[in-house]
Parts: sequence; structure tokens; C-alpha cells
Amino acid sequence: MAKSYLVARVPSIVSNLLLFGILMATFTTTGAQIGVCYGTLGNNLPPPREVISLYNQNNIKKMRLYGPNIDALEALRGSNIELMLGVENERLQDIASNQASADDWVQKYVITYGNVNFKYIAVGNEINATGPLAPFVVPAMQRIQNAIFKAGLANKIKVSTAVYPIILQESSPPSKGSFRQEYRPFLDPLIAFLVRNQSPLLLNMYPYFSYIGNVREVNSQYALFTYPSVLVQDGQLGYKNLFDAILDAHYSALEKTGGISLKIVVSETGWPSAGGDGQVTTKKNARIYNSNVIKHVKGGTPKKPEGPIETYIFAMFNENQKQGQETEKNFGLFYPSKKPVYPINFN
Ligand SMILES: *[C@@H]1O[C@H](CO)[C@@H](O)[C@H](O)[C@H]1NC(C)=O
Repeated sequence: MAKSYLVARVPSIVSNLLLFGILMATFTTTGAQIGVCYGTLGNNLPPPREVISLYNQNNIKKMRLYGPNIDALEALRGSNIELMLGVENERLQDIASNQASADDWVQKYVITYGNVNFKYIAVGNEINATGPLAPFVVPAMQRIQNAIFKAGLANKIKVSTAVYPIILQESSPPSKGSFRQEYRPFLDPLIAFLVRNQSPLLLNMYPYFSYIGNVREVNSQYALFTYPSVLVQDGQLGYKNLFDAILDAHYSALEKTGGISLKIVVSETGWPSAGGDGQVTTKKNARIYNSNVIKHVKGGTPKKPEGPIETYIFAMFNENQKQGQETEKNFGLFYPSKKPVYPINFN
């Protein structure tokens, strides 16, 4: 609405150009809000060049890469796939302490790859907000931001970090969403940084884990986007799925802490196809969840109805060296052989 009103007030050639620009922007974002995380913790995964081809063959236009994998960056050259690139947790302390280290990182892994379509730098992943690395996160983000700015890339590349729902004190109903008080020393400067730089918050979130952690109380259909009607009424807003409820709980928490202007990008979500409860971690459920994510994120949430919701599915492959529970190895859309674990359509 606001856009067409603006367009109507400017001279016609400019307005046509503007309109064209807006249409183009619409075309290029439609269907392109969904990405896939390229995790590499497997000893049997295909070479990066083949992985990039697999993204292209499946019309997957965005990738999250957890660290600067040189072969993957080389293979991404000229591909146009939008990239979220991670700064690994082990690098945070050094980068937080030295601008030269940040400059060097950006030079080596970003500037060198001028024909790779960088969109985000995710500085750290799921850092424990009260743990030993927490004090380095925002300073490292700031130094990477400085380097990006010096390189003239600040308008193109946004700097953020990926958090997960443990930061919430309350999450239900979504309007009650609030951050844990003991995490505020970590979160407040983070939110201020994101607001200042108009960067989104990155959120790794899994309705699967909410469900499996509380099977008695969480409805499986609500977790899988298959509940037929509103399950949670929250004031005026009705929730039919847990994905929206989790996202909006974070938006409510941000509102209460100076982050009302922030956008959230879902930097991981997914459902394991094997390795857990035989009723829950099935190919069928993984397919239902991920197919519904692809459809659902074209729109918004009850609280933020203007979509799309930029979202990255975890993960491209089953990763046989992933630590933790057996399910961790079975989040992939593809086997290392590049055969799909179940049919899924990104078109
Ligand atoms: C985070 O770090 C603190 C302090 O080291 C520790 O007590 C806590 O268990 C950690 N939390 C998580 C979720 O790992």
C-alpha cells in the first residue's frame, strides 16, 4: 500500500522505473525465500562442485555455510546462490580482539570472492549467552561490520549471529514471549547492534525439539503444520502451527527489549527422518514438515502477516559425523549419494 502511494506521487518515467524495480524485486523474492543449510560434518559427502549443482538442479537459491570452506566458496563463484556465511565459534575471541583479524577474514573469504552472492555473515552459531564465548560475540560482529563497511559492502551484506529458543523465558502464548533475564547482558547489546545496522536476528528453531521435549503437551499436528484449525488463541491472533508461535514469541520478546524494528530470519529449521522415536522421526513426517515450511514461509505469521519469512532448512545432507543423538545425523534432504531421502519440491 505504502509503496504504490509513493509511486503515484513521483513523475511518470521515474514512477515506471520505480514500479519496474518493485516488480522485479517481487519476482526475485517470490519462491526465493527458502534456503538450505550446507552442513559438512560427513566423511562421505559429495564434492562442493556437485553440491552446488544439486542446489541448482533443485532450484534452491539460498545456502547457509557454517564456515569459510574454500572449495565451496570457489564452487559458488558466479552461481548467484545467496550465501549466509558463518564465522566459526572458535574464531570469535581472536576477531573480537583484533580489527586486523576481522579485516583479514573479510579479505580472505568475502572480498576475494567478488562473484559470490554474499547476503549475511553469521558471526557465531548458538553461542551460550552465559558461557565463556558470549562476551566476544557482539565485539566480533562489530569488527566484521567495520571490515564490511570499509570494503563498501555494508549495504549488501548484513552481519548477525544465530541464536536459539533457549533465550526465551516465556513463550506461550506468543504475546507473552520474553527473554531470560540472565541472558540480557548478552542480548541487549546484540539487539542494539542489529537495530543500528538494520540486520535481522538469526534464529535456529525446531518445532520438532519442542514436540519431542514435551510429547504429552505439544500436539504433533501443530508441530507439523497439519492441525486443521486454530489451536492457540492469543488475543486477536490465532495460531495453527508451532512454527508461527515460536517465531512470534521471539518477536514479542524483541518488542519488549528495544528490538521492535527487527526482522527475524529462520537460520535453521527441519525434522529428522530417522534415528529417534519411530513414530515421529519418519521420512513421512520429515517430508510433511519441510514441504509445509516451504509453502508456509511464502506468507507471514499471525503477528507479522507480511511475508515472506526467509528460512533455511537444516540440512542438505545426512551427516554421519554429527555429534549428539542419532537424529542429528538424519536431518538431511539428501543422502550423501545425492539421492533424495524423500521427494521434496522447491519450485
Ligand atoms: C552456559 O554456560 C554456563 C556457564 O558456563 C553453564 O552453567 C550453562 O550450563 C551453559 N548452558 C548451556 C545451555 O550450555
